Amino acid sequence: MSITTLLDIQYPILKGVMAQISTHKLVAAVSEAGGLGILSSINLKPEEIREEIRLTKKLTSKPFGVNLMLHSKDRDQIVKVVIEEGVKIITVSGGSPKVYMAWLKENDIKVLPVIHTVQEAMEMEKIGVDGLIAEGTESGGYIGETTTMTLIPQVTKQVDIPVIAAGGIADGRGLVAAFALGAHGAQMGTRFLACEECPIPQGVKLALVNAKDTATIVTGRKRGAAIRSIKNDMLERYAHLEFAGAPEEELEKLTLGSFERAVVGGDMETGSVMAGQIAGLIEEIKPAKRIIEDIMDEAHGIITQLKI
Ligand SMILES: Cc1cc2nc3c(=O)[nH]c(=O)nc-3n(C[C@H](O)[C@H](O)[C@H](O)COP(=O)(O)O)c2cc1C
Repeated sequence: MSITTLLDIQYPILKGVMAQISTHKLVAAVSEAGGLGILSSINLKPEEIREEIRLTKKLTSKPFGVNLMLHSKDRDQIVKVVIEEGVKIITVSGGSPKVYMAWLKENDIKVLPVIHTVQEAMEMEKIGVDGLIAEGTESGGYIGETTTMTLIPQVTKQVDIPVIAAGGIADGRGLVAAFALGAHGAQMGTRFLACEECPIPQGVKLALVNAKDTATIVTGRKRGAAIRSIKNDMLERYAHLEFAGAPEEELEKLTLGSFERAVVGGDMETGSVMAGQIAGLIEEIKPAKRIIEDIMDEAHGIITQLKI
């Protein structure tokens, strides 16, 4: 089944959840434009998530999703709110939604977990999820080890459910490539950071527009929680200290609160902005609608011209 049919959306484009950034305005703009917006539940109390869902519904009558981060201590309450508010799509990060599957299916909710390996993909298919978001290491935020180019064909070879490719996709060429590798759609995060409706300071959006292909850095690999962000002196210092075996407390002092410092306060020096390697391709801050239309136009143009 196509992802557009499965999720009842117009275009096979998902705006990946972005912690504290994927709020109602951005989510509604993407869904209104025919893609799928996904609300973040990170650091929000269940009642705040309910409010975000209601605010999103005021801006669009089209489908949107909510992301469930399984590390959240409020996860049971979050699932309850999603069900009560009638949201029909949930993406899941940070593990397996196995314990919630019966409850979610009873309520006719489509479940799409984020996976980073073929093994995880096969386990998720077994528990009855509706589709997978297979995320390559190029992506912004918490990352796995395998690249999108290698992960997608290996996952799509092993599972029969729809796979959405994530990581390193920001234009029509990337979308067509994802389909060529067997995916049914693409999830993008970094591209939507430089979006007019994205609630981050303009300076951070401009930093993305100015970013080059080598603009990102991965920190946290040593402690098993690798994160890709836009490089700055603070993160380079972190990486250096991490490599040298500095104690965890010293590392934490540098990054504690750094994401908020950047995405709320616009501090790109001691703050850190998670972003993917595809940041170097972003040249313009555009409304969500134009981002999606441009990607689809380019993708259709490529499909008709491909000669192999
Ligand atoms: C700023 C930022 C925050 C993110 N936060 C989350 C998150 O909270 N949970 C999650 O599962 N993925 C998160 N992601 C990953 C995105 O949902 C998406 O899968 C990823 O950005 C796709 O790769 P791309 O950045 O190359 O487009 C984040 C990505 C970015 C750029």
